[in-house]
Amino acid sequence: MQTDLFHQPIKFETHDDCIAAMEALTDDPLADTGHRMVIYRGNPAADLMVIGEGPGANEEQQGKPYVGRSGKLLDKILESVGFDSQNGVYVSNTVFRRPPNNRDPEPTELAYYKPYLMELIRLVNPKVILTTGKYSMWQVIGGERLGVKSISQLRITRLRGQWHQVDGRYVMPIFHPAYLLRNPSREQGKPKWHTWQDVQAVRAKYDELGGM
Ligand code: URA
Ligand code: URA
Repeated sequence: MQTDLFHQPIKFETHDDCIAAMEALTDDPLADTGHRMVIYRGNPAADLMVIGEGPGANEEQQGKPYVGRSGKLLDKILESVGFDSQNGVYVSNTVFRRPPNNRDPEPTELAYYKPYLMELIRLVNPKVILTTGKYSMWQVIGGERLGVKSISQLRITRLRGQWHQVDGRYVMPIFHPAYLLRNPSREQGKPKWHTWQDVQAVRAKYDELGGM
């Protein structure tokens, strides 16, 4: 049986309360890296949410997720189907401090931050969530729904573009924009082409659900 992701010990009245509590964290597993908390950008009332992996150098500097090269590409992808990439979306990550040297998030870090991300999702209450890359797919959709036991078993080329329902929300995994930057071809069958198909399906679902 699938467990309800929102049966978590962390609960706040408002989005701002949750953000304040997160910004006050001092004992989280990335705290002693000295990197600051980077939690979200965009509109906390948006019907569309995008979850990335973790902040990099640009994100840390500006205190907002997805503002570097990957973020610019993400914005273009969203705008290609008519989303307002600033005010029409809420953007966050699986981990809220930059991992040292931009390494991948570790399982203990993902586990620690997960209840906070789940609470942000509950409070923002989007109709549609896009996960970018394998860590956010793992964190939001979960191994059980994806049919794998560990992150290393996730094959994003096979799993992308499929809808999952998580607590009544539609969630789709797509490629990470950093991967698209490394694979810039738009030819049919290439990652960028697939992403454009996926984001069109996202737009259709969002409209069908009455997103605004
Ligand atoms: N990549 C991510 O996954 N998230 C960011 O915030 C920036 C780059
Ligand atoms: N591998 C990843 O980890 N993420 C992608 O988006 C694509 C390949």
